[in-house]
Amino acid sequence: MDILRTKNEVKSALDILRKSQKTIGFVPTMGALHYGHLSLVENAKLSSDAVIVSIFVNPTQFNNKEDFEKYPITLEEDLKLLEENGVDFVFLPSVSEMYPTETLLKIDFGDLDKTLEGAFRPGHFNGVGVVVSKLLNIVKPSKAYFGQKDLQQVAIIKRLVSDLSFDVEIITVPTVRENDGLAMSSRNIRLSKEDRLTATILYKCMLFAKDELLAGQNWFEIKEKVTKRFHDEPQARLEYFELVHTDTLIKLKGIKNQKKVSICTAAYIGEVRLIDNLEII
Ligand code: PAJ
Repeated sequence: MDILRTKNEVKSALDILRKSQKTIGFVPTMGALHYGHLSLVENAKLSSDAVIVSIFVNPTQFNNKEDFEKYPITLEEDLKLLEENGVDFVFLPSVSEMYPTETLLKIDFGDLDKTLEGAFRPGHFNGVGVVVSKLLNIVKPSKAYFGQKDLQQVAIIKRLVSDLSFDVEIITVPTVRENDGLAMSSRNIRLSKEDRLTATILYKCMLFAKDELLAGQNWFEIKEKVTKRFHDEPQARLEYFELVHTDTLIKLKGIKNQKKVSICTAAYIGEVRLIDNLEII
């Protein structure tokens, strides 16, 4: 496994592959890797000749300084995991390599980034859009892999790729969960032992809501029950629990006459902010 630290190193290593018509699968990450990330790698390996993973904790997508400073870094373990999982290249750029000059460009994703995460984390998707654009321009992969776990991120990246005609196919990979349903996340290691147990409330509430919706119950009554359930849990603080169209992210009042619907939620468990989503239909 080759470690590449600069844009030029990536170019030299990958140009050789591209010249011999090899396909390149790309998995962008911020490190602190878990099986969710490895599932993206596994998918990339299945459909590409070579796999490159980037690890870059992108400062511009953190709207909260403390969240950035506390973001877990486990580089040694990450590299071991990637090597064991047959990754060919790791791109490990520095902040100055990615941002030699301040980025003046601002990306506005219209309605897509004004809702859900975008409403609670102003500037977050501008940061994601810019860094993903830079990474795609540096790596020039045939396919890039993103997790369903970050549903709004995938919707925005698909739109970015289409609006700017990036020559890449975006592949979405299903969310990987712990045995008790908690979606794997780099932030989970910051949960205390007790909070780790409480954190299953997100998945439990989404499953409850899905059952109720499919049984024909009223969405607003379901949401009220879920809000109460969070309220009764002292360590949990619900930010949002919304029913949305899976691609447009437009908020819905029910599932009648709809074809693609998901629940999206975000909550603080102790000090840690978690997000999750579940496909309903
Ligand atoms: P990060 O949070 O490290 O996630 C990297 C990729 O792993 C994302 O596509 C994310 O959706 C996916 N992922 C995370 N947890 C997952 C799970 N439990 N199951 C399946 N996939 C999962 O997302 C980012 O980094 C950044 O915003 C990035 C795209 C790298 C831009 O900086």
